[in-house]
Amino acid sequence: MKKLVFTFSAIALLVACAPKTTEVIEKVETVENEKTIDFPSGEIAEGDYLFSEHCGKCHDLPKIDKYSEQKWRGIVPAMAKEAKLDAPQENKILQYVLWKKTL
Ligand code: HEC
Repeated sequence: MKKLVFTFSAIALLVACAPKTTEVIEKVETVENEKTIDFPSGEIAEGDYLFSEHCGKCHDLPKIDKYSEQKWRGIVPAMAKEAKLDAPQENKILQYVLWKKTL
């Protein structure tokens, strides 16, 4: 039964068109538990790369645990501007940071 719920969530994730970030995060967790399904983690992986590439230039690479989700939602847009990143790059970094906070 539990397995069925997980599978359903994963399907819901695949068919959802524009889920809110918090919903995505919840579903990422679900999919993480369901090892048989490959989560399309490209955006998060790219965010990881962009974060380590751009966010340690002017200061040390920030500790993700140090700030709340709410804080990050303000920090990332401000710092993406500092780092001269475009909106998709900013979004990938935010996805990565918020995903990392759920681990
Ligand atoms: C061009 C330089 C520059 C780049 C690139 C840069 N930062 Fe910053 N960052 C700063 C400066 C300057 C401050 C301190 C002043 C401030 O808080 O506005 C800061 C402060 C911060 C803080 C502390 C904020 C707080 O409220 O204590 C965090 C977290 C942070 N940056 C994250 C990032 C992330 C994530 C990236 C990559 C998207 C990034 N920074 C890229 C210049 C930069």
